Amino acid sequence: MDYNPFSPEVQDNPYPYYAYLRQHAPVYQISGVGAWAVSRYDSPIQFLARQAMREVEVASTTLPAGAVVLVLYGSANRDEHKFPEPERFDTMRNTEGHIGFGFGVHFCLGAELARLEAKVALAALLGRFPHLSRRDEPVTRIESFVVRGVKTLPLTVG
Ligand code: HEM
Repeated sequence: MDYNPFSPEVQDNPYPYYAYLRQHAPVYQISGVGAWAVSRYDSPIQFLARQAMREVEVASTTLPAGAVVLVLYGSANRDEHKFPEPERFDTMRNTEGHIGFGFGVHFCLGAELARLEAKVALAALLGRFPHLSRRDEPVTRIESFVVRGVKTLPLTVG
C-alpha cells in the first residue's frame, strides 16, 4: 500500500490507511508524503542573498563582480514556465527542479532530515487523530520577511 496522507483516497476515507499504518509500517518507510510539494508551494525560506564573485550574466542581465543579489526561492518555485498552474497545490505533482531547499553546492544539508521529520510528525499526528479537520478560524503566520510558515492552525481533533 502506498501511503500518502494528502491523496484524495486518504482524505476521503482516512481510517483504513491509519489502521494499516499502525499495524505494518515503520514511519520511515512511508513514501510520497508530499513534503517536496509543500516546500515548492509554500517555500519556508523565501529568499537568501548571494554575492557575485565575478561578472556574470543571469537571464540577460549582467551582474558586476561584487553585486549582491537576492535569490527568491519562493518566486522561482511558482514559476509558471517550470510548474504548470503554479498556484495549484497538488501533492502528487512533479516537483523536480523546485528550489525550496536551495540548489547546487549549497543545497540544504538538512533537507532529508526535514523531510523525514515531516513524515514522522504527520504520520504520528494523523495516526493519533484520524478525524483531524480545520476549524473555521483564521490561520496565523510567522512574522518574518524571510521565513514563511504557520504559527497557529486551529484544528478539531475528532
Ligand atoms: C523545512 C526545513 C528546511 C528548509 C526549507 C531549508 C531550506 C534551506 C535553504 C533554502 C538553504 C539554502 C540553500 C542555498 O543556499 O542554495 C539551506 C541551507 C542549509 N540548511 Fe536547510 N532547510 C531546512 C531544514 C534544515 C535542517 C533540519 C538542517 C540541519 C539539521 C539544515 C541545514 C542547512 C545547512 C547546514 C545549510 C547550508 C548548506 C551550505 O551552505 O552548504 N536545514 N536550507
